[in-house]
Amino acid sequence: MVRIAPSILSADFSRLGEQIDEVVDAGIDWLHIDVMDGHFVPNVTIGPPVVRSIRGRCEDKGVLLDAHLMIEKPERYVEAFVESGARIVTVHVETCPHLHGTLQQIRSAGALAGVTLNPATPLSSVEEALHLADLVLVMSVNPGFGGQAYIPESTGRIRALRERLDDIGSQAFLQVDGGVRSDNIREVVDAGANVVVAGSSVFRGSGTVGENIERLRESLRESV
Ligand code: DX5
Ligand code: ZN
Repeated sequence: MVRIAPSILSADFSRLGEQIDEVVDAGIDWLHIDVMDGHFVPNVTIGPPVVRSIRGRCEDKGVLLDAHLMIEKPERYVEAFVESGARIVTVHVETCPHLHGTLQQIRSAGALAGVTLNPATPLSSVEEALHLADLVLVMSVNPGFGGQAYIPESTGRIRALRERLDDIGSQAFLQVDGGVRSDNIREVVDAGANVVVAGSSVFRGSGTVGENIERLRESLRESV
């Protein structure tokens, strides 16, 4: 089963609640929340109070909140995000000198522990932590902004990580984030991803939010 996790980064923030209802009604499983601090990445976005304010709209319908922390020293905020409703917390290996401990901290706080890495960060940087990860996220753009183009080399990285996770018998989710649209979602999933983040293609596509999600699903159903 492939999960599509819309990223609210590309939503219309002036009517965020309404936009969340639209994706939830479209039957999504996870809602992706991009947290940026203006240090690790240039942009500044969402903090725990916003997560708390949207949790009701999601939890009641069985949609999990998936927090992607693009922030320095993420260990300072793990508990705050979990208490605010995040069920998955993903940290960047580039920000975690004590990655092993940070993943354990996330699990102890009661969430699924995710680790991610930037497009130019070697896959080997997460190797020793794979057995502690409930999710591994391959960034397919440089983090910071929605609406960027998918970096083609990401497909080989997804494939390599899929092989590695299978080799060690890991059941971790393999997530991909950045530039995924109806014309490349199939490639990403064929390479081994089973959770796909989609921001601009859902919230800024040509149709309604529901139609845009259906378009992504259709691309997965089409035979090649
Ligand atoms: C980038 C974020 C992504 C991004 C995805 O830093 O982590 O989640 O918003 O948006 P699209 O799908 O537009 O690339
Ligand atoms: Zn993200």
